[in-house]
Amino acid sequence: MIKDVFTQPQIDFINQLVLDNYDKLDSRYSERGREDIVLTPNGTAAFENLNPIAKEICDRVLSYFDEGKYINAITYGEYTNKHTNPNLPPHKDPIHTKNGLTFDYLLDSNVDWPICLEGDCVSLEKNDAIIFSPCEQYHHRPEMIFNDGDYVKVLFFMIRTNQ
Ligand SMILES: [Fe+2]
Repeated sequence: MIKDVFTQPQIDFINQLVLDNYDKLDSRYSERGREDIVLTPNGTAAFENLNPIAKEICDRVLSYFDEGKYINAITYGEYTNKHTNPNLPPHKDPIHTKNGLTFDYLLDSNVDWPICLEGDCVSLEKNDAIIFSPCEQYHHRPEMIFNDGDYVKVLFFMIRTNQ
């Protein structure tokens, strides 16, 4: 687990970006109790060009990886009971992300909903992240009832390897 990933100005930038794009919240994964906003709709380079802080955010994430990795996409995900109780049974992600890694970052939450890799569960606090291989490692979150107002807000940085 990685602690203290971003600085407060970087976190403020992310929160403002989410607010500015809140009308784009996508319910594609509503059966998981999650709604998403793709923060890199025009690619990561366009995201980095938004602001020096956006570039810092990407550089910070890549600093946790070996050379030759890049960020393919950044997605914001928000789990609440708006559509259904959030649920993430054990699974591996589809093969289209083969060799990919994910940098899962906890932006904010008001409940503790651990993330489990191959059955080992860890509780992330705000500004913590965990790296794993979503196509190769079973991952899930324990069954938990979300009450009205409970939320878990995450960022998924999808990491790929240069060919
Ligand atoms: Fe997954």
